[in-house]
Amino acid sequence: MSFATRRKPMQPPRQDGHALVRTLSWPHLVALGVGAIIGTGIYTLTGVAAGLAGPAVILSFALAGAVCAFAALCYAEMSTMMPQAGSAYAYSYVGMGEMIAWIVGWSLILEYTVVCSTVAVGWSGYAGGLMLQAGWNVPEALLAGPHAGGIINLPAILITIVVAGMLLVGTRESATVNFILVLVKIFALAAFVALTLPAFDTANFEPFAPYGFGAAMSADGVKRGVAAAAGIIFFAFYGFDAISTAAEETKNPGKDLTIGIVGSMFACTAIYMIVAAAALGASPYDVFSRSPEPLAFILRGMGHPQVAAVVAGAAVVALPTVIMVFMFGQSRIFFAMARDGLLPRGLSRVGRRGVPAPVIVLTGIVAASIAGFLPLDEIAALANAGTLLAFIATALAMMLMRRRAPDAQRPFRTPLWWLVGPIAVIGCLYLFTTLPVSTMINFLIWNSVGVVVYLAYGRTQSALANA
Ligand code: ALA
Repeated sequence: MSFATRRKPMQPPRQDGHALVRTLSWPHLVALGVGAIIGTGIYTLTGVAAGLAGPAVILSFALAGAVCAFAALCYAEMSTMMPQAGSAYAYSYVGMGEMIAWIVGWSLILEYTVVCSTVAVGWSGYAGGLMLQAGWNVPEALLAGPHAGGIINLPAILITIVVAGMLLVGTRESATVNFILVLVKIFALAAFVALTLPAFDTANFEPFAPYGFGAAMSADGVKRGVAAAAGIIFFAFYGFDAISTAAEETKNPGKDLTIGIVGSMFACTAIYMIVAAAALGASPYDVFSRSPEPLAFILRGMGHPQVAAVVAGAAVVALPTVIMVFMFGQSRIFFAMARDGLLPRGLSRVGRRGVPAPVIVLTGIVAASIAGFLPLDEIAALANAGTLLAFIATALAMMLMRRRAPDAQRPFRTPLWWLVGPIAVIGCLYLFTTLPVSTMINFLIWNSVGVVVYLAYGRTQSALANA
């Protein structure tokens, strides 16, 4: 077998005495999913996406949510069938061979890093707005990168470093804190909707889809339309890996995971569409779409500065956990790739406190540098490109394994896999085509570098090659 196609054998789910106690059912999973998913996507990218689609951005949320739900079902089957670190990378290694697995893993490294940067920039928008509202004399040049009229986005850099520091001293997500933050995030969004609804003006919805329903290139070189906005707002939906990782603890994985995953996708899609509709009803889209803190901006404009501060405060308190989830997730990807010999083992070394310090430091530095200088929409699109590739790979691996190992133990089975799998692949491919051309080029460059790294290192160092 050539190096590119060598495949790892499948490791079955653990059957030993280390199995976790099955205490969770679907309401817990929906809470877990909603907690991990809601972040910068709804709080900040709603503005960016509204600028691309106009009021029809509501449909963009529905489109991105539907694609994610199909992909999430495939993801749930693979993650329960092979509950091991590395997610899409690991499934690809078993399903499609080393070379594709490497590209998926390399894309995941990009995704996890850039998600941290994106959420940090979103956080900074609300933190900066709060500081200015409180009368602090912060130079605006230090609150935004060069693309947005500033010099450096200092708050975004600082929050990335603070989260990396917390992980280094051993802070972990805790179920109780997660639950409280879910309530904080939902309460803030509910307060936003409650206050904006009385000002709902249907005139703001005319024209409904000024840029059409696809992703057509405008004269300024920007892709606009419902699908183009869906390609960006897709960011708001991922993070549901959190649900799959709890699979071993669910009472009835088949039922609980299906309802947990589809339920949290429905819940988030509904919440997002309501928030977006409320925002659009209260303010013309071309007014709030340019704000780095659109929800607070709308409330302040309506004469509700205190509630604006509450919503901004909720974002400031809750968004860092999203950075934490992804920064820690990065260490699991490095761990899985280094264990397979494709990356140097030193990178995934775990220190005395059980913390993979080299990965956290590296990710922190790179994510902070990106957050400090690059524009929000570009980095969100790049994160989406990596995620879309990972989702496509997962759906393909799911379908290939159904053919190759039909009798393998599957605690969760994707319903109608022969239909859900292809829809997930086609949906993700379509969203990929709606991304900005610059994103596609950057993604290609990143993966070309990746292939060179693989040929120079992983090809010969691979544990499979040396087994
Ligand atoms: N879905 C997460 C967010 O919107 C990544 O922040």
